[in-house]
Amino acid sequence: MSNIVENSVQVSNSVEGSITQPQLYSTIAHEIATPLSTVQGYLEMMEQGLAGAMTPHQQKLLRAALRSMVRMNQVVDDLSTFGKLKSKRLELNLQPIEITEVLYETVGILFEQIQVGEVGLQMSLNEEMPLVLADRVRVAQIVTNLLSNAVKYTRPKGTVTVSTTQIGEFVQVNVRDTGVGISREDQQKLFSPYYRAEDVYVQSKSGTGLGLMVVKELVDLQGGQVWLASEVDVGTTVSFTVPILKNTTPSD
Ligand SMILES: Nc1ncnc2c1ncn2[C@@H]1O[C@H](COP(=O)(O)OP(=O)(O)O)[C@@H](O)[C@H]1O
Ligand SMILES: [Mg+2]
Repeated sequence: MSNIVENSVQVSNSVEGSITQPQLYSTIAHEIATPLSTVQGYLEMMEQGLAGAMTPHQQKLLRAALRSMVRMNQVVDDLSTFGKLKSKRLELNLQPIEITEVLYETVGILFEQIQVGEVGLQMSLNEEMPLVLADRVRVAQIVTNLLSNAVKYTRPKGTVTVSTTQIGEFVQVNVRDTGVGISREDQQKLFSPYYRAEDVYVQSKSGTGLGLMVVKELVDLQGGQVWLASEVDVGTTVSFTVPILKNTTPSD
């Protein structure tokens, strides 16, 4: 995958001359995102019965199409973010947010629309979390990436658990799975672009290898940290932190 992307980018670089690789990524992502959202809109209309009644079989096919749209959106989002990060054009919209709310929302969207197969999901959220200062959309993108990895790299009957804790000035989010795990050697490399483990199960799933790199950069930009703990055939926990909103005293 990485070779194909890099080679094709080099070819167009020599043709276009002035377009840099990250700019090209963002442009392609944008060109795909626009028609994609139109198609998704129409599919959602049909799912809601706004284009007439459908047979159960048609509904099933439509739901499968929508799940693919969700996956495609994730790829396009990561590609676009990767391009912006590399060309230093990513702007954050930092605001006080309730992380628990963002987590419930993201998990809800993902588990409604992505086929989770037989992987169980547990939420162990502390409802009394302080507000954090973060970009809501980017936090959702981080969580979407971690959750889709956890589900993707966990065999049927496994479990994915999302939990939160407060550690000093930070809220910590943990995504734990009982999946295939990551070898010690691979753990060092996963946050670099395009890297995917050689593991047969990992290679049997589709992916770009951009997700964790994007996650790391987004967490860093928001003033947090990300790390993982993993054991082969036991499971993986990826954790990240987001800074708690500091109480600002009124100036008068
Ligand atoms: N929860 C996980 N369990 C096992 N391996 C993981 C997990 N998350 C990430 N990985 C490994 O890290 C690699 C990089 O992850 P990512 O950047 O999200 O790429 P992708 O999901 O497209 O393969 C994956 O290909 C896989 O080898
Ligand atoms: Mg991924």
